[in-house]
Amino acid sequence: MTGSLDSDVARRRTFAIISHPDAGKTTLTEKLLLFGGAIQMAGAVKARGEQRRAHSDWMKVERERGISVASSVMTFDYAERTFNLLDTPGHEDFSEDTYRVLTAVDSAVMVIDAAKGIEEQTRKLFEVCRLRDVPIMTFINKMDRETRDPFDLLDEIEQTLALDVTPGSWPIGMGKNFLGVYDLFNDRLVLMGRSKGEMPDEGESCSGLDDPKLDRILPDWAVKQLREEVEMARGLCPEFDPEAYRAGHMTPVFFGSAVNNFGVREMLQALGQVAPPPRPQPTADRLVDPLEDKVTGVIFKIQANMDPKHRDRIAFMRLCSGHFKRGMKLKHVRSGKLVNMHNPVMFLARDRELAEEAFAGDIIGVPNHGNLRIGDALTEGEDLRFTGIPSFAPELLQKVRPEDPLKAKHLGRALEQLAEEGAARVFKPRFGSDWIVGVVGSLQFDVLADRIRTEYDVPVRFEQTTLYTARWVTCDDAIVFKKFQDGNNQALAEDHDGDVVFLARNAWHLERTAEDFPAVKFHKTKEHA
Ligand code: G4P
Repeated sequence: MTGSLDSDVARRRTFAIISHPDAGKTTLTEKLLLFGGAIQMAGAVKARGEQRRAHSDWMKVERERGISVASSVMTFDYAERTFNLLDTPGHEDFSEDTYRVLTAVDSAVMVIDAAKGIEEQTRKLFEVCRLRDVPIMTFINKMDRETRDPFDLLDEIEQTLALDVTPGSWPIGMGKNFLGVYDLFNDRLVLMGRSKGEMPDEGESCSGLDDPKLDRILPDWAVKQLREEVEMARGLCPEFDPEAYRAGHMTPVFFGSAVNNFGVREMLQALGQVAPPPRPQPTADRLVDPLEDKVTGVIFKIQANMDPKHRDRIAFMRLCSGHFKRGMKLKHVRSGKLVNMHNPVMFLARDRELAEEAFAGDIIGVPNHGNLRIGDALTEGEDLRFTGIPSFAPELLQKVRPEDPLKAKHLGRALEQLAEEGAARVFKPRFGSDWIVGVVGSLQFDVLADRIRTEYDVPVRFEQTTLYTARWVTCDDAIVFKKFQDGNNQALAEDHDGDVVFLARNAWHLERTAEDFPAVKFHKTKEHA
């Protein structure tokens, strides 16, 4: 093990932002990139010539679909740290993608609208983080508007998420009277009015809240309120405990206004200081330590057609261990074949660049023609199977048919590829010739129809079914399982891996069948690979 691998891995922070739509995730992302110098002005992405055209093509695809279907990765450096920010699609129809992205991060930032508190989507995403004990930092946004009382917000986080909260900064006023924050981690007073241009003021170092400097700088009401509130908060909240935070039991809370790039630096600094570096990753047999010499990685997302000119697919791989170099040959564990990593890409802001090297914790994109699937492992030889990347039972099921019946075979191939990519579940019922496509959110059907038409040249029609839900079925007892299958053949299908799926007509059908066959297990999720 080299000394340099240690320090290169230790400086990495791979994280995602979770929030309810409109809380300010996009705005916060832009401001974070601004600190990293990845973009020069909020909203303006550095790109030249050919790159810019490729970029705008890509944007066009997104615009035409009317929704961002990509979760991109943005890498930037700040204060001697390398941050990998994994963007998650905000629309709830794409939550499955979001869930998978959350399996590839070491920590998360939860953005909350100060006027609204914890909203539905935030809570759901938080639950996914909790399943894996992902540490959470909280950013309470939009303090420049009329907000709820800070104590009320802290209390809500604690109560609804059953998480210890501790303030990392404290707001001074709100709405029109929002003057700034006091950074409790570094004892600095940072004021809104002092920010120049895009970059906020660095703040005034203080010797604590009793520092007479505060009386000189702030109006009387503000100093009084700040001292009283922080004293109260310290009485009510436990002190920041880095261990409790890293174990996912405590969240430090920062207040700010993303649109004004205010309070963002304090949170980014804290991420650099206390968020965990790349964590060991679970496999079926052992934990893979990021500092192991040998390179290992796991595919957690496939993005088709990022560059419409090339009909390529990018498999997003999280490096789980080692020091990766371009040109390496890695073993694709599922097929046993060697993959030549001659053109892996890294994502700097929204541009793509060749990745010459990367370290555990980084995300690289591997262009491929469909041989890489979600959950696949790439290693220097060891047969590893990474665990914990879920596939969810679809809540919406529709039949799909080609408009030209002669294209049934083409459609079958397209569906198989989309299923492998994780864009949808595809089931082939044992009876009938139709394919059943299952998704988590209804918008996915539109996106799928569009993709099958444009990428595979097969115009298709989706049709309603009376199906209620799908469950993967397994049974330890082969005889019982055969009996179950014989009796329920009409309701059974195979997914693209050949696993058996039960398609329920309604809740009663599912319950009744489960009661009739107590030895058969009905699974809502399936692990990839
Ligand atoms: P999202 O990605 O979480 O969906 O949220 P996004 O950043 O797009 O922000 C949603 C809206 O909230 C945007 O307004 C954005 O400008 C606004 N916003 C973000 N941060 C702050 C803040 O600190 N204070 C205030 N007052 N507003 C904030 P919009 O009207 O939907 O779009 P736009 O036209 O302003 O871009």
